[in-house]
Amino acid sequence: MKKIAILPGDGIGQEIVAEAVKVLECLRADFGLTIEMEQGLVGGTAYDATGKPLPGETLKLVKDADSILLGAVGGTKWESLEIAVRPEKGLLGLRAELELFANLRPAILYPQLAQASTLQADVVSGLDLMIVRELTGGIYFGQPRGIRTLDNGERQGYNTLVYSESEIERIARVAFDIAMKRDRKLCSVDKANVLECTELWREIVMTVAKDYPEVELSHMYVDNAAMQLVRAPKQFDVMVTSNMFGDILSDCAAMLTGSIGMLPSASLDKNGKGMYEPIHGSAPDIAGQGIANPLATILSVAMMLRYSLNEPDMAVYIEKAVGSVLDQGLRTPDIYSEGSTKATSKVGTAQMGDAVVAALRTK
Ligand code: IPM
Ligand code: MG
Repeated sequence: MKKIAILPGDGIGQEIVAEAVKVLECLRADFGLTIEMEQGLVGGTAYDATGKPLPGETLKLVKDADSILLGAVGGTKWESLEIAVRPEKGLLGLRAELELFANLRPAILYPQLAQASTLQADVVSGLDLMIVRELTGGIYFGQPRGIRTLDNGERQGYNTLVYSESEIERIARVAFDIAMKRDRKLCSVDKANVLECTELWREIVMTVAKDYPEVELSHMYVDNAAMQLVRAPKQFDVMVTSNMFGDILSDCAAMLTGSIGMLPSASLDKNGKGMYEPIHGSAPDIAGQGIANPLATILSVAMMLRYSLNEPDMAVYIEKAVGSVLDQGLRTPDIYSEGSTKATSKVGTAQMGDAVVAALRTK
């Protein structure tokens, strides 16, 4: 029996996770998946209830669990809190406490959604890339950090970009291993022309490359990588990069696929234990309206089945069910495009989730 911790979090997190749970329940009832699920609090919701964005009880729950499904954290309501108790700290705390250093963010364009992308269909059609983002180091966690007052009375904000050789090496290995299972092309993204830290990054990636002679390795500065992602994204197979660059580039890559509401992610530790979450945020502007797209979270469940629960067939069933609801023309507002040539209908969060479950049942 595998234990899954369910952390809906804030904003639309509540709504989209409810749909993903329906999918897990269907797999349990109809496909023999042996899991137990337990819910916990994280983010602003946890702060409101306990005064902490990551309460001890939640930490215990996730440490005991085999994998974790997370919705999203954050919201305007908590923006004025001091940084140490902001919802985002709950998420960063989970990543750090569980040592989830490898963040996999695939960007796949469903052919049915080529029209929803803001880029021309020929630029994005067939897009299938994987961003491997380092998740527990870099400027997000580097010390010292803070806001200090200088002798002249002026305040100064500062953060530190640090990576040790071992941190670079382990994320590089994950990326090379993934590249080996795909098209064997890896692009490492850095800013080695300016930042010593990423000069070391480049050096270590090149050393690790010696163990993977079949992988074609390239290097790109992050500014160019951002440009290339919107110019000719299909040149990439796997990209590996630091925490902050990966944060930025993955949002950019998400938009290539039509909507950030479609993209799942996996954050893994060295043993393959993982936390799975959509890459989008809590979208406070549409929270509670029942219109958020649950597909990124549902696809995160597919990643969980593949990477942590060793049920690759079930992962494929989910991905096929998502393809099938898109074929049926069902679209949440974020992926609905006016004037689409195909008959499409606008649906809400729960309708979309129910349709995926129905498609799964007929598999
Ligand atoms: C993400 C998010 C988080 C990050 C925030 C919510 C802390 O943007 O997962 O990409 O910056 O890592
Ligand atoms: Mg982000």
